[in-house]
Amino acid sequence: MSAASRRAARPRRQAPDRRRGYPGVFVVLEGLDGAGTTTQAERLSGALRAEGYRTFVTREPSDGPVGTLIRQALTGRLGLPKTAGPLGPQTLALLFAADRTDHLEAQVIPALNRGDVVLCDRYVLSSLAYQGSSLPMEWVEGINGFAARPDLTFFLEIDVDVAAQRRVRRGGDAELYEDELQQRRIAQQYLRAIERRERDERILRVDGARPISEVTDELLRVLRPFLAAAAEQTPRA
Ligand SMILES: Nc1ncnc2c1ncn2[C@@H]1O[C@H](COP(=O)(O)OP(=O)(O)O)[C@@H](O)[C@H]1O
Ligand SMILES: [Mg+2]
Repeated sequence: MSAASRRAARPRRQAPDRRRGYPGVFVVLEGLDGAGTTTQAERLSGALRAEGYRTFVTREPSDGPVGTLIRQALTGRLGLPKTAGPLGPQTLALLFAADRTDHLEAQVIPALNRGDVVLCDRYVLSSLAYQGSSLPMEWVEGINGFAARPDLTFFLEIDVDVAAQRRVRRGGDAELYEDELQQRRIAQQYLRAIERRERDERILRVDGARPISEVTDELLRVLRPFLAAAAEQTPRA
């Protein structure tokens, strides 16, 4: 069997990109607020570490300087003057894009170069879904043009109502974007964004409504062969 036909025979979604320029693997978790991305990133990290992988769990907005500004804007501690409300949508979208380039340079790329499995809680798809719900998606995509492509993205699918119930149970103050109408719009935008990107990226939709451990098991079922294949393709330094 030729190399080309071997490549073709392997299911596309389980084959890491041979052109990755780093020994690590870049995995992204996406979904509505309450879908369980934070829960699953932590659980995946625990399971993979137990299996001998080095993992790096991170999130966007990041904990860096621009990400910190964004968190302040999302919680209403930073905004337009004279209580005119939060930062404008363009400003916020540009901050998210700036946080992303900073997060990549400061944390994600170094971790990928170390050979870690990076588990990133939200990434470009979130910008397309959230900022893209009030701005042209092409523009949001354009300002994120420098963002490295994930090797694999999991989209945790969940009903808007279930997500809202989980957020209530989780507690904490409501953030920008959390009202029901906005969440419905964002859910639709996520699907539009996935349709747009899945030709060039591996994006896997996973039923996030099932019990936590079942979701983790499904993610691991996909990840294990994916990571094994990536390790095989990476020349050891
Ligand atoms: N599959 C699940 N079933 C039930 N509850 C869940 C599930 N996944 C997460 N939760 C709970 O829902 C809340 C939101 O989860 P979280 O991981 O913070 O979501 P996200 O980071 O996507 O906003 C938490 O209280 C979490 O324990
Ligand atoms: Mg979260």
